[in-house]
Amino acid sequence: MQTKIAQLRQQVEAEIGSVTTEDQLEAFRIKFLARKGLVASLFDDLKNVPAPEKPMAGKYLNELRQRTQMLFDEKAASLKSTPHVSAQLDPTLPGRRKFLGTKHPLMQTLDEIKSIFVGMGFGIADGPEIEDDWHNFSALNFPPDHPARDMQDTFFVDRNILLRTHTSPVQIRVMENNTPPIRTIMPGRVYRNEAVSARSLCNFYQVEGLAVDVGITFSELKGTLLSFARRFYGKDIKYRFRPSFFPFTEPSAEMDITCFICRGKGCRMCKQSGWLEILGCGMVDPNVFTSVGYDPEKYTGYAFGMGIERTAALLYGVDDIRLFYENDVRFLRQF
Ligand code: PHE
Repeated sequence: MQTKIAQLRQQVEAEIGSVTTEDQLEAFRIKFLARKGLVASLFDDLKNVPAPEKPMAGKYLNELRQRTQMLFDEKAASLKSTPHVSAQLDPTLPGRRKFLGTKHPLMQTLDEIKSIFVGMGFGIADGPEIEDDWHNFSALNFPPDHPARDMQDTFFVDRNILLRTHTSPVQIRVMENNTPPIRTIMPGRVYRNEAVSARSLCNFYQVEGLAVDVGITFSELKGTLLSFARRFYGKDIKYRFRPSFFPFTEPSAEMDITCFICRGKGCRMCKQSGWLEILGCGMVDPNVFTSVGYDPEKYTGYAFGMGIERTAALLYGVDDIRLFYENDVRFLRQF
């Protein structure tokens, strides 16, 4: 009897150690402590023990029952104080927010401009960012001593090879490879050797436009750009064309619209003038037609060009265009 009790005690001690859940603890209770459990069945055996051994056997058995009950109670208490979750998971932590990516504000602006011109019947063309002097300057009627050809303004790769300073060379490429009628916009990156500031970058985007056909007039240029501006900036904008100069257009103009921040009253954005300059434009200079082998007596056309960073900055009220290139998600998430 004494060995049986000792064996059962070992079993109890071993099994309580591997209990880690309430269910396992309940199974332990049923196995050892229930009315038909192993401890109770040893009490049943007590009647077969010879009389002289009975008091000792009874004493050991009682001790075993108390010990088992104590182990059970201790385990029950410790299971209660341990939460029923794995150590890695802390349900009190705040949830993790996931953010959806969005198109970059510059690309959103560009897409909007493209879709307006495509809706008016324009195609889209592309050209290289590394250009030669011919396409970037000479064919566009820049005189040999024009200041834009200076190293101060242009990044040269080689003597006659440079990073394009505007998207106008794509006009030349489109005309060299096509015959009129032409109606195309040409978006792309351009480079200028300029000090970076809140208002200028050395690398930015432009959208160029070109229309060439028989009988195109300045009023078509105005009508097209006005339709664009009304769709892009709002139906009720006012506009004006100011005389300007570009070597590749004659006459040349700059288009202004009423400042939509202050509605023309004058503010920081429009430098108190009430007007915002949005693009440069003009009628294609006859010398440009001659460069590409078009007959300037037969064809006329117009061209325009606008900067995307400035346009996006105006549209979204961003006062420093460098923000578009810092890729700070706190900035980008707003668009
Ligand atoms: N290329 C000119 C610029 O970069 C803009 C322009 C394009 C002006 C087409 C007239 C016609 O400033």
